[in-house]
Amino acid sequence: MPKNVMRRILVTGATGQIGSELVPELRRINGDENVIVGVHRRPPSDELKDAGPCEKVDVTDRESIEKVVDEYEIDTLYHMAAILSAGGEKNPWLAWDVNMNGTYNILEVARERSMARVFIPSSIAAFGPETPRDNTPQETILKPRTMYGLTKVAGELLCNYYFEKFGLDVRGVRYPGIISYKTPPGGGTTDYAVEIFYEALKHKKYTCFLSEDSTLPMMYMPDCIKATVDLMDADLSKLKHHTDFNLAAISFSPKELAEEIKKHIPELAVSYEPDSRQAIADSWPKTIDDSAAREEWGWRPSYDLAAMTEDMLKNLRIRYETGQL
Ligand code: SER
Repeated sequence: MPKNVMRRILVTGATGQIGSELVPELRRINGDENVIVGVHRRPPSDELKDAGPCEKVDVTDRESIEKVVDEYEIDTLYHMAAILSAGGEKNPWLAWDVNMNGTYNILEVARERSMARVFIPSSIAAFGPETPRDNTPQETILKPRTMYGLTKVAGELLCNYYFEKFGLDVRGVRYPGIISYKTPPGGGTTDYAVEIFYEALKHKKYTCFLSEDSTLPMMYMPDCIKATVDLMDADLSKLKHHTDFNLAAISFSPKELAEEIKKHIPELAVSYEPDSRQAIADSWPKTIDDSAAREEWGWRPSYDLAAMTEDMLKNLRIRYETGQL
């Protein structure tokens, strides 16, 4: 977004793992009153509720989006509502409805009102077993086997269609697994990388639902927020891609993460009992080539495994000690 231009923003899925940290940053940049928290399943935290507007938005119900968009004269949408990979395998019908119809509704509402800009994320779930798993290229085979993954591929294509056909400025990245200490993720295959921190501090043991050598691309929340804000700020004329940027920061296996946490909590005991999520992890990349994001909008992550681990433990300890958890 051009700097110094105040936007009127609606964030869907704003109470989820990413939304709940994206909203405070967008409010810091645009003003509290200009960023609307779209609430559906999960109620907003006091932090979100007390700082600015919160409204009920069900992305599968276009009228509920339109009502809020028109009331607040929204010109920019961040569409963060989604059913993730493991949740989508439990309820593929709901995943289709939320991810596909939700995305279509958002695009239509934005198109009809000629909105300034829309952010709709994709995921590493867009890749599949035929995709090269090491240094996965920007342009590659996209044949995911999960409902989440296929809605993300279709979403990328639909967003590109809206850009080409209607000139709607839609942008998006393929998020890796996101690690954070404020709002837990839900229904993802990469969720172990968050759970292990809570369990390490609380019980000094953790049973991981992926095998110890399941390397996956991950990212710490501050980098995730930076990427989201930076892509939306980028100069449109510099972008050759729009809605499908590969995005990388750190790649590690459960064993490597456990070893890093053990540097701080030596007693931590981790066992491995892979479940149905293992097959999903096995179909995803280990490492990602994100040179298009680096070249077109200057993407650079800040956190490596050691820095992320230290910061996670420091902040979760504070939350445990102050009774927030
Ligand atoms: N974190 C997501 C999941 O595991 C990937 O986008 O489903």
